[in-house]
Amino acid sequence: MSGELDHIIRVMSGTHGKDISRYDESFLTKSLEKRMAATAIATITGYRDYLLEHADEAEELSRSLNITYSEFFRDPLTFALLEQLVLPKLIAEKQETGTGTAEIRVWSAGCAAGQESYSVAILLDELLTAHKKSLSFRIFATDISEKCLATASRGVYDLAAVQNVRQKHLTTGFNSHNGTYSVVRRLKDRIEFSVYDLFEEHSASPPGSIYGDFDLVLCSNLLFYYRPEIQQFIVNKLCHSMSSGGYLVTGEAERAIVERSHIFQPVSRLAAVYRKKLNKGDL
Ligand SMILES: C[S@@+](CC[C@H](N)C(=O)[O-])C[C@H]1O[C@@H](n2cnc3c(N)ncnc32)[C@H](O)[C@@H]1O
Repeated sequence: MSGELDHIIRVMSGTHGKDISRYDESFLTKSLEKRMAATAIATITGYRDYLLEHADEAEELSRSLNITYSEFFRDPLTFALLEQLVLPKLIAEKQETGTGTAEIRVWSAGCAAGQESYSVAILLDELLTAHKKSLSFRIFATDISEKCLATASRGVYDLAAVQNVRQKHLTTGFNSHNGTYSVVRRLKDRIEFSVYDLFEEHSASPPGSIYGDFDLVLCSNLLFYYRPEIQQFIVNKLCHSMSSGGYLVTGEAERAIVERSHIFQPVSRLAAVYRKKLNKGDL
């Protein structure tokens, strides 16, 4: 389908101003097949002709390529590792060094409707409260989908959305009312949601964060939708935004992408959590 795929990519950019060339080829092919089934068009040439005439179909195709599914505490092993090892270690290290801002800085890149950002906020809030630490934390949560960010900022979810949230966290992290769960103000105040495209070439991190220097970056279930050179571009960007020795979390299926870069070392074999290798001067 490769040559035919190029025709579709060209129609999308030439006629509709939408660049879909960055997506992984097999993902693009599967998405196209779904759109062909939905429009009852049997051939790729037929679909290309249809696409030329229909801006609404270009919208549909483009929307179908941006997968925004997410869950609270999505990967249980990853969140267990964060809760039991990574975050306590980060807190202890921050307190020991006592340098710079006494604040843990987190970036949730591709945060969808906020589930990942609030999950980390719940854990950090709990750990810092339990240990009566004077540290604070701030989470910069970004996405390209304004619709997702609007939901994230509202922070109101239904029962199905919070099914992975432990009872104690439902109590401490949410106000429940008539079957809806609203994230408590204390957690919302720690998170800044903003639009930021990871393809942005002129900055290493969201402008709101000013200088990056993140202790923890989460970028999960996003990289594998893109072509290898794009994946590498994003991994490099994330790396530049992080402090030396900072932690990176990706999706389970994205491990190979991170490991290829040789900039990060795995924290454990159990989950896709990595540590940026320390600069020589930090040893
Ligand atoms: C499948 S969701 C994953 C959400 C969450 N990280 C998780 O693991 O559950 C991928 C998210 O990445 C966002 N995204 C995709 N490409 C992006 C880009 N170039 N820049 C910023 N966000 C992007 C999508 O809008 C979507 O909300």
